[in-house]
Amino acid sequence: MSAQPRYVSQLKGQKAVIIGGSSGLGFAVASALIEEGASVVISSSNQSKLDDAVKRLNDPKLQYNADPSRVSAKACNLLGEGMEESLANLFSSVGEFDHLIHTAGDPLAISPLEQASYHQILKAGEVRFFSAILAAKTAQPHLRKGGSITLTTGSISVSPRPDWAIISGFAGGLISLGRQLAYDLSKYDLRVNVVSPGGVETELWSGMPQDKRQKTFEAMSQRALTGKIAQPYEVAQTYIGLLKDTNITAQTIYTDSGALYGPRP
Ligand SMILES: NC(=O)c1ccc[n+]([C@@H]2O[C@H](COP(=O)([O-])OP(=O)(O)OC[C@H]3O[C@@H](n4cnc5c(N)ncnc54)[C@H](OP(=O)(O)O)[C@@H]3O)[C@@H](O)[C@H]2O)c1
Repeated sequence: MSAQPRYVSQLKGQKAVIIGGSSGLGFAVASALIEEGASVVISSSNQSKLDDAVKRLNDPKLQYNADPSRVSAKACNLLGEGMEESLANLFSSVGEFDHLIHTAGDPLAISPLEQASYHQILKAGEVRFFSAILAAKTAQPHLRKGGSITLTTGSISVSPRPDWAIISGFAGGLISLGRQLAYDLSKYDLRVNVVSPGGVETELWSGMPQDKRQKTFEAMSQRALTGKIAQPYEVAQTYIGLLKDTNITAQTIYTDSGALYGPRP
């Protein structure tokens, strides 16, 4: 009998749910998983964005190994008190699956602390932080043994910037959350890890005026040891690695252009 692949087809036939899969990092992870032969269910709050993402993922001119039978989408709004019920409905409709990837994030609440109200602080954590806790809770009964959960934080957790205190607090919390979930969910034979990107050129920044966005990307490139702003397809490789390496759990992986140690000498 000839040797079976150990490295290239590991995710083939597996099923992943990507919360935040309609754009940016989540979309890139979905695209990478389709290349790998996995099935994906992408979720976000906006049905027309989801429809457009599904179209791109199913287009053989844009997507390697495109196969519409392995792609589906379901809307789920992570704002407000209905969040837990929406997540529970999402996972019930998916049934059993292998991997949960959480990349959902709404516009960044960057604000001088003096102007931040109690409600603004709570709202800033809903999609990025609170929904990650409830997603883990509601997904667990549907996740197959040997599966995984991957959360997303950001380099603001280790590298302060002016007016980022609120986001930074939630970003740091996500690292502890991932570690604790890895501990708690190990009894279900599940692994949990966290990805910490630095600046990545995604739709997250599209709310910024074009010239300010350009300046922000240039500043990020100058701080980077790689000398450029990251692209989503690069960072998606880290998520895929975390899914494939069945030995890694309770870790945060930094894919941040080396910005902590930049600029280049
Ligand atoms: N890009 C960067 O430079 C960078 C750096 C470090 C960390 N991060 C973090 O990485 C995560 C992903 O960022 P990204 O760059 O991929 O952002 P993105 O392109 O804006 O994607 C965010 C995703 O979250 C979804 N989302 C937003 N509000 C939602 C809601 N209320 N309910 C459900 N889904 C919602 C969006 O879809 P809908 O609009 O359709 O809901 C979209 O699919 C975020 O937490 C971000 O803070 C990003």
